[in-house]
Amino acid sequence: MGASDLAVLVKQAADIVDVIGRVVTLRRAGHRHVGLCPFHQEKTPSFHVDPETQFFHCFGCGQGGDVVTFVMKHQNLSFGDALRHLADRYHVVLPEASATTGVAAEASRKEREALFRVVEAGAEFFYGQLHHSPAGRTARDYLKQRGIAEHVVEAERMGYAPDRWNGLLHHLENAGFDTGLAEKVGLLSRGARDRVYDRFRHRLIFPIRDDQNRVVAFGGRSLPRENGVETRPTGAARGEEPKYLNSPENPLYHKGRMLYQLSRAREACRNHRQVLLVEGYLDLLAFHNHGFYRVVATLGTALTPHQARLLARMSDEVVLAYDGDEAGEKAMLRALPLFMEEELTVSCIRFPAGMDPDDYLRAHGMEGLERLVSGREDLGRYAIDRVLERWDGSTGGKSRIVSELRPILRSVRQPVLKAEYVRMVAGRLSVPEGAVQEQVGGGEGRRPTVQAPPRRALQARVEQPGSLEESIVRLMIHYPGLIDEVERSGAVEHFSDTKVKTLAELLLKSPHPPSGAFSAPAVFQQLEDPDLRGLLTRFMMESADLADVETHLSDWLGALCQLKPRRSRLCALSEALDRAQRDGDMVEVKTLLGQIQSLHSAKKKGRRSTPNH
Ligand code: UTP
Ligand code: MN
Repeated sequence: MGASDLAVLVKQAADIVDVIGRVVTLRRAGHRHVGLCPFHQEKTPSFHVDPETQFFHCFGCGQGGDVVTFVMKHQNLSFGDALRHLADRYHVVLPEASATTGVAAEASRKEREALFRVVEAGAEFFYGQLHHSPAGRTARDYLKQRGIAEHVVEAERMGYAPDRWNGLLHHLENAGFDTGLAEKVGLLSRGARDRVYDRFRHRLIFPIRDDQNRVVAFGGRSLPRENGVETRPTGAARGEEPKYLNSPENPLYHKGRMLYQLSRAREACRNHRQVLLVEGYLDLLAFHNHGFYRVVATLGTALTPHQARLLARMSDEVVLAYDGDEAGEKAMLRALPLFMEEELTVSCIRFPAGMDPDDYLRAHGMEGLERLVSGREDLGRYAIDRVLERWDGSTGGKSRIVSELRPILRSVRQPVLKAEYVRMVAGRLSVPEGAVQEQVGGGEGRRPTVQAPPRRALQARVEQPGSLEESIVRLMIHYPGLIDEVERSGAVEHFSDTKVKTLAELLLKSPHPPSGAFSAPAVFQQLEDPDLRGLLTRFMMESADLADVETHLSDWLGALCQLKPRRSRLCALSEALDRAQRDGDMVEVKTLLGQIQSLHSAKKKGRRSTPNH
């Protein structure tokens, strides 16, 4: 499935008013929604969102586009990342993973079942190796040393991948499995000269399960070697094995859409809708050690919007328990807007320098950890505090600090919470709350007090006719049935504004009646220049309600075709006039003056039919 198919699905699922409404306060104005433009500073709203065409356009700064363009600009993402972000948020599932119909779906369902079976066989193999092979001893010792209880090892069916290139490979072959499937789920790798070999070697195996508790992937932690040296640093140095090796993404496993131990935690959250979020497999299992199951972990990546949404469905509050180092703090702060988006209460606990939840639990037990949880801090406040700490106490610094806080404050969707944060910031900086609010702008909390701009001012802007050329292009977009007539007139050739001309030429080339159906969004897709995109979205938004479109158009086309040659003719005549005057040729001067005069009166006549409403 290509990006363009995904784009179609995403645009179907992600309503532009919903997407933009989450970050810009929109007010209904007729069949549109308007708000303050997020891309430039303004006091009166000129940012329009049209649910019908699913486009936005700002009449202030001229930018416009569709829902994907908006996310790209607003979050500074590439096209692909913006698509994925929206796909995640609106649960757009790629067809191969969703229930589709027909033969292909049946085949893919069969294949998925086969994939589940081979993963399960892998899990059983690793489990058996941990318990019954002499080599599994290292892993068993390691588990003991890390204090993982027997009941956890059993419940999780943890395993050991032997230190061989073909342990699992031979096992699967002997059991009659298709090794191609094992490769597809990343249990086997393919190397030089197409040699297939075990992906996990000499590693402690953590089975990863989906939300229906089926094993779909594995995390593999490196183990001490004979010489007792353990791989310590996170990530791999050159030539060194990484501490954790995980299954690659495969048809069953998408690490950004799953969470380690999700189904277990969801069950535990039934009674108490609060969940802890940690970063490591071993951190998580340390909680299970203590019989605490309201905890999930990310799978080696930063939290994704999809994961935040999964958490929002099962709980009312998420408590982040990331490592007590700078990286942990950064990761927590990055996660904040994702939770705000879900209107989820989010708090954090901080561990003493360098400790992670596992270390802390070993040192202070579950009681110690519960004390930390009861003293948890609201993550928004925590983030605001971190910024406020950087205030140097100067008056000038206040404004800079508020600017830095802007993204945090703007991401808060709950008015009461936002008001509380604003009060906190205002109090700490000793400035009026209103000033903070104003600088932050676009606040939900301000919605009731926002004055609707006089409707006429808005209309005037929208219907501003612009030049003759613009009027023609606007008509082509609103009445594609007239594009042919424009083409026949040859008027576009005479366009002087190069941007308008480029757009007009593209419209002539695009499918349109009577031979095809016109689609403004399709034209938009072909434009790369942001100016051209803005031009198109403006014309789409501007009204072109005219009583008699055909007559207007032919008048304008006529005017344009006459204007252009006349203008160059006039030039030539006045040059000749100059020459004749210099030469003292009075007869020539008189003839030329007469010609110029008649040209001028013809122009006045032509003007009468140009647009001036
Ligand atoms: P940590 O480095 O914090 O490891 O990585 P940990 O879970 O505390 O493990 P120990 O205590 O050192 O044994 C946290 C998580 O980041 C991912 C894994 O999911 C890990 O649990 N990670 C880390 C990787 O995917 N690859 C790595 O090389 C390292
Ligand atoms: Mn650790």
